[in-house]
Amino acid sequence: MRILVTGGTGYIGSHTCVQLLERGDEVVIVDNLSNSKEIVVSSIEKITGKRPVFYRADILDREALDTIFTTHGIEAVIHFAGLKAVGESVSKPLEYYHNNITGTLTLLDVMREHNCFKLVFSSSATVYGTPASVPIREDFPTGGTTNPYGTTKLYLERILSDLFVSDDRWSIALLRYFNPIGAHESCLIGDNPNGIPNNLMPYVTRVAKGTLPQLSIYGNDYPTHDGTGVRDFIHVEDLAAGHIAVLNHMTDAGVRVYNLGTGVGYSVLDLVAAFERATGIKIPYRIADRRPGDIAECWSDPSKAERELGWKAQRTLEEMCRSAWNFEKAN
Ligand code: NAD
Ligand code: UD1
Repeated sequence: MRILVTGGTGYIGSHTCVQLLERGDEVVIVDNLSNSKEIVVSSIEKITGKRPVFYRADILDREALDTIFTTHGIEAVIHFAGLKAVGESVSKPLEYYHNNITGTLTLLDVMREHNCFKLVFSSSATVYGTPASVPIREDFPTGGTTNPYGTTKLYLERILSDLFVSDDRWSIALLRYFNPIGAHESCLIGDNPNGIPNNLMPYVTRVAKGTLPQLSIYGNDYPTHDGTGVRDFIHVEDLAAGHIAVLNHMTDAGVRVYNLGTGVGYSVLDLVAAFERATGIKIPYRIADRRPGDIAECWSDPSKAERELGWKAQRTLEEMCRSAWNFEKAN
């Protein structure tokens, strides 16, 4: 299939491009490089032996998208492009709504003009807000997002559902990711945030490397087994495989929603312990105040994806830690 991958040089997009190329798809990437580097295109080529077509362009640029669709006869889109920093979204709501929502509206309009109706969308577990219970199933209520980033995902899910109601040629998958960590086994691609990381795993690997002195654990008084926050960490390669599984399944029109997680919740302290076991490196930490907007527990019931797509996450927490560390060391 000829697939346009928006945000394809980013963290999850690059791992997905590798798997698409490995199974023989033609991959065209559009990315404005606001949060990634062009060298990722060469890394993807090193891993797969195939070079994806790359356009440095913005999804807000209708003309650029139009040219790409005309030139490549795109048959499906996997849409990763978006801004994702929660804290930044609170201080820059207009930038987030414009980039994520207007950008997606532009993309959808160009898709429609070119009779391309197959879309896989990167959503997030954040759309569940504070869940009434865990594990979280796809039919749990959405809403109650606590920041503009999360709200863009919520609104876009709604917009995409409305789109299908208006035109039943659309085949749309809303993939709600839990917490992707780890990197490709080659160590050529991975999560490499600029500046001080906001997310747990890149912070831990930088403490392990000595770039940062210690980890701050945000709260140890949550109602969880050890008081620290519990999350559903999933290896990014398993997450990427979920995109392949859903593409294989999208033969009919409709809107489908899937949780992509492991179904197991680990606490921050569990992750630190797993990292220490996997690498032999001690992670110094201190207990800090809770981070505003955090919830106690968030993990998935991924059984719908297993039942309907035949997809299940395979890798253990220790494997995730080892691969994240190998990537940090190599970079
Ligand atoms: P990322 O920042 O590594 O990748 C996103 C890519 O999109 C970047 O390469 C960036 O340069 C590009 N981009 C942003 N705005 C663009 C625009 N207007 N035009 C063209 N390119 C643009 O992030 P990621 O972790 O790979 O996340 C991919 C998607 O998955 C995002 O939509 C994110 O919100 C969503 N998501 C991520 C997580 C996570 O934990 N990483 C969790 C849930 C959902
Ligand atoms: C965060 C975002 C979420 C987004 C996801 C992926 C918030 C509130 N949520 O999820 O919307 O989809 O990232 O980008 O930001 N922790 C520490 N110390 C740290 C960093 C994190 O203790 O230095 C803890 C957190 O309190 C949390 C857990 O580790 O309990 C995971 O945090 P993080 O990796 O930031 O992911 P989420 O908060 O789950």
